[in-house]
Amino acid sequence: MKASVKICGISSAEDALAALGCGAEFLGLIFEPKSPRAVTPKQAEEIAKAVGGRAKLVGVFVSQTADFIKDAAKKQNLFAVQLHGGQNAEFVKSLGALDAEIWKVVWLENESDLAEAEAFEADRILVDSKSGGSVGGTGKRANWELAARLAKKRKVILAGGISPENVREAVNAVCPCAVDVNSMVEDSPRKKNHLKIKQLFENLKEMENTQMKSNGKFGVYGGQYVAETLMPALQELEREFYRAMGDADFQDEYRGILRDYVGRETPLYFARRLTEHCGGAQIWLKREDLNHTGAHKVNNTIGQALLARRMGKRRLIAETGAGMHGVATATVAALFGMECEVFMGAEDIRRQAQNAARMDMLGAKLTAVEIENGEATLKDAMNEALRDWVATVENTFYVIGTAAGPHPYPTMVKEFQSIIGREAKAQLMEKCGRLPDQVVACVGGGSNAIGLYAPFIDEKGVAIYGAEAAGQGIETGKHSASMQGGSVGVLHGNKTYLLQDEYGQIMDTYSVSAGLDYPGVGPEHAYMKDTGRATYVPINDAQAVHAFRTLCRLEGIIPALESSHAVALAMENAKNLSKDKIIVVSLSGRGDKDMNSVMEYLRK
Ligand SMILES: Cc1ncc(COP(=O)(O)O)c(C=O)c1O
Repeated sequence: MKASVKICGISSAEDALAALGCGAEFLGLIFEPKSPRAVTPKQAEEIAKAVGGRAKLVGVFVSQTADFIKDAAKKQNLFAVQLHGGQNAEFVKSLGALDAEIWKVVWLENESDLAEAEAFEADRILVDSKSGGSVGGTGKRANWELAARLAKKRKVILAGGISPENVREAVNAVCPCAVDVNSMVEDSPRKKNHLKIKQLFENLKEMENTQMKSNGKFGVYGGQYVAETLMPALQELEREFYRAMGDADFQDEYRGILRDYVGRETPLYFARRLTEHCGGAQIWLKREDLNHTGAHKVNNTIGQALLARRMGKRRLIAETGAGMHGVATATVAALFGMECEVFMGAEDIRRQAQNAARMDMLGAKLTAVEIENGEATLKDAMNEALRDWVATVENTFYVIGTAAGPHPYPTMVKEFQSIIGREAKAQLMEKCGRLPDQVVACVGGGSNAIGLYAPFIDEKGVAIYGAEAAGQGIETGKHSASMQGGSVGVLHGNKTYLLQDEYGQIMDTYSVSAGLDYPGVGPEHAYMKDTGRATYVPINDAQAVHAFRTLCRLEGIIPALESSHAVALAMENAKNLSKDKIIVVSLSGRGDKDMNSVMEYLRK
């Protein structure tokens, strides 16, 4: 979604140039003498001269005659004439063949206004709030719901109380081709506030950055490979997600819960003894293990549960491998008083008995997924969750725990997990005054990794590394390294690298760490691998367990086995870098849940 901006009520060359400098496509000159922001033809000429053809000028007319409008359009070389009065189709006809677009202002209050607006012969329809005779600039919000309906049929420009604070929400809600901003970016009529104009553009740009890759495609990867019955649910989710992103109340609530309930921000800790042990670059740990529930997963489940509540869904479902995402989903279901069902492979329930018990304690229904031949693990749980969703989509929200699944999940999960990278970036800036040389994370489906990477992707000086689970070695076939050992296919509603046989059947995966035991990877990782922006390295069980033990002994931190893969990779990389270099590692979770797995591994 991308909207142009018209800054309206420009009455000086200085304001015109400031708006232009920030990126305004249209500048509105109000020719109605009764307006407090009116310009005379002479002032209009001066403004036109100052911008010198670099902006599209729009003349706003209320009571002027057709001849006056035609004259102004010609003299000031107007891109459009905006008809703000009761001008009807007859009047438009009397303007004859203008060299300018015709924009008609409408006020939408009910269905009949909508039908009338739809029928109007104009190039664009500008939806404004009722302004009691004044020419815009009232700060009052228009009817966004009706505007959004009109925008599906006509080119709509949205006006009425658009501000730097609500511009994202407005664009997400209405999908206009442009927004018209006036009183909310001025100190007083005839004096625009240039800082506010700048802020408006920055807010819009931030939104576009989030959405840049959000048509669901990352190169050839991503997409929505789902049953047709799920498409309306995904479209509704996409719409609600973008609305929520632009909604200050949603953001406040989300951040408040992360702060007061989860315990954010998490520390960025300099692992001095680990660094000395490796003898090279400094290793800094982003302590997601200190989050409530013991891992990064909760950053995402809180965001998705808030969306579910916003969409009126009372039941959450999730699939889980290691159980951390299941626990995080059961936790938020308890927090928000929602029903929760978690699907988990029978084999994983055995391996992660403690997490299974936690979900039970939290009041979630744990459904063990069995298969006829073989051991049921994460992929089987995923299949079951998708099957349930198809049947219950009306009242059920599917909380996906990693940066995979059909669009908008990869983008949405990235957004909710990007708090990891944003905090780490600011914390390192504060402590060391610079960016890291490398960021390192483990990659299962890739949510903690993409969350850490997010604010560094455009920082070309920061190298990005991901550790994939190589299990007993890629050559043995007993691994979960979809990018190193897999091929392109479709899994879990998106196109990506995955572990499949020659018929496209998903293969069994293996890793000492249940949370990396995912047969695919999020589509943005697949894209970053192909483009070379990130380097993905296989780390086997032995390396991970060695890193696990080293961190325990040297730093007094028991990491999750998943995170131990990232620590192992960082230790390798650190050895090859000088001491002034900095590596930031996502310590995605704590290792209490992995005690049995490690003991079992060490006994072998
Ligand atoms: C602590 C921890 N880290 C990492 C992961 C891997 O997931 P992702 O790649 O989505 O971050 C898991 C999955 O359960 C986990 O529990």
